[in-house]
Amino acid sequence: MSKKHSMATLQTKKVYIETYGCQMNFADSEVITSILNGVGCERCESVEEADYVLINTCAIRDNAEQRIHHRLRDLRAVQQRRRLYVGVLGCMAERLKQRLMVEEDNVSFVVGPDGYRRLPEIMTRVAEGAKVAETELSESETYADIVPVRLDGNGISAYISIMRGCQNYCAYCVVPYTRGRERSRDAESIVREARGLYEAGYKEVTLLGQNVNSYRWNGVSFAQLMAMVAEVSPQLRVRFATSHPKDLSDELLATMAAYPNICKCIHLPLQSGSNRMLKLMNRRYTAEWYMDRIAAVRRFMPNCSITTDVIAGFCGEEEIDHQATLDMFRKVGYDYAYMFKFSMRPDTYAAKHLNDDVPDEVKGRRLEEIIKLQGEIALENNRREVGKIYEVLVEGTSHRSKEQLFGRNSQNKVIVFDRNDATPGTYVFVEVIDCTAATLIGRLSSQ
Ligand code: 5AD
Ligand code: SF4
Repeated sequence: MSKKHSMATLQTKKVYIETYGCQMNFADSEVITSILNGVGCERCESVEEADYVLINTCAIRDNAEQRIHHRLRDLRAVQQRRRLYVGVLGCMAERLKQRLMVEEDNVSFVVGPDGYRRLPEIMTRVAEGAKVAETELSESETYADIVPVRLDGNGISAYISIMRGCQNYCAYCVVPYTRGRERSRDAESIVREARGLYEAGYKEVTLLGQNVNSYRWNGVSFAQLMAMVAEVSPQLRVRFATSHPKDLSDELLATMAAYPNICKCIHLPLQSGSNRMLKLMNRRYTAEWYMDRIAAVRRFMPNCSITTDVIAGFCGEEEIDHQATLDMFRKVGYDYAYMFKFSMRPDTYAAKHLNDDVPDEVKGRRLEEIIKLQGEIALENNRREVGKIYEVLVEGTSHRSKEQLFGRNSQNKVIVFDRNDATPGTYVFVEVIDCTAATLIGRLSSQ
């Protein structure tokens, strides 16, 4: 079929995109929108208006997938009334491939994370009655040349995808299977994208990758890339996510410290505080190594906030391992943590070689203990902020009151304050006067 034919059939077709999962998926949805705009599709804001619904999915835990199955069942009701093509994209598409279209027969196409350039052709074939699964993974696709169309943004902060895939093979994790081999994107295209965003009025970019520390492109390291992006403008804040503790380098910490506009915030997934669990998880660091890296962060940047991910109830986890995780939380004093119950994922090392032997209620109880402890730590940390003055990038009106604005400081902490004459998209100084475990409360300050 000629390209012309394909563009003609898609022109003015309305596409609704729904995104689940991590920031990477949100960044991908912006690439997808750009590809579809290029062939004349229009993005719409609701299923009701749509000719096509694209669901960009996550496969990281079973409950993420269950949500998608429910959503697909909801869409059936619309499909019984009128023609609506449903496509499943992203990690769950990659994991289940054509099986997904057998289980959910209202789905017409599944496209994995490396197949988005083919969407126009696939969607055209679907309109002609075909069912299509495109789940080939690539060793080189980075969508470097595609300028993402920013979705639902505030026009202030944006994601930039700098690498794709992962090959760390943590024993619990499905990502290496759903997103394929690790590959870095051309550094110049990243800097160009950051500059374009700055020129369009954006004030903050977050560089995204599954393990940004292993970014390398034509000899450019991640630390060098951060410096290149930070040089775009001192008025452009630079953040990144996410890094693997095993290769967090001093070079990166030195670069973060050297640029005031590189945010003083680092996400360092711990997963477990027990060396026995870390080994079973194939994390390739010990609790001692991790603490050494935390000490290095504090040495380079005493004011840096530290956040983490943790899994409760991994295979074979005993009470003593769980206590080691709690201990580690106390020692590090995280500012924020994403906390999960272990969910066995098919095809992973754990699924093949380990037993999911921690009873669900034990996993639940351990998770609750971690959540409770983290709540106390976050509150304690926030209390220490009272009296300090921070430069805050104003993001918008507070959800609680129209009279208040919210923004974040370099450490990524949310601060709410009375509006006065401040406006979103600008930097202001705010003095912290009170707090909860989740939010700082402040007032505008002249410095
Ligand atoms: N079960 C529970 N949590 C998981 N994560 C990854 N895989 C699993 C799983 N099978 C968590 C890890 C990771 C975060 C993105 O999700 O903590 O850092
Ligand atoms: Fe993101 Fe991982 Fe979920 Fe894929 S499986 S959407 S990479 S969190």
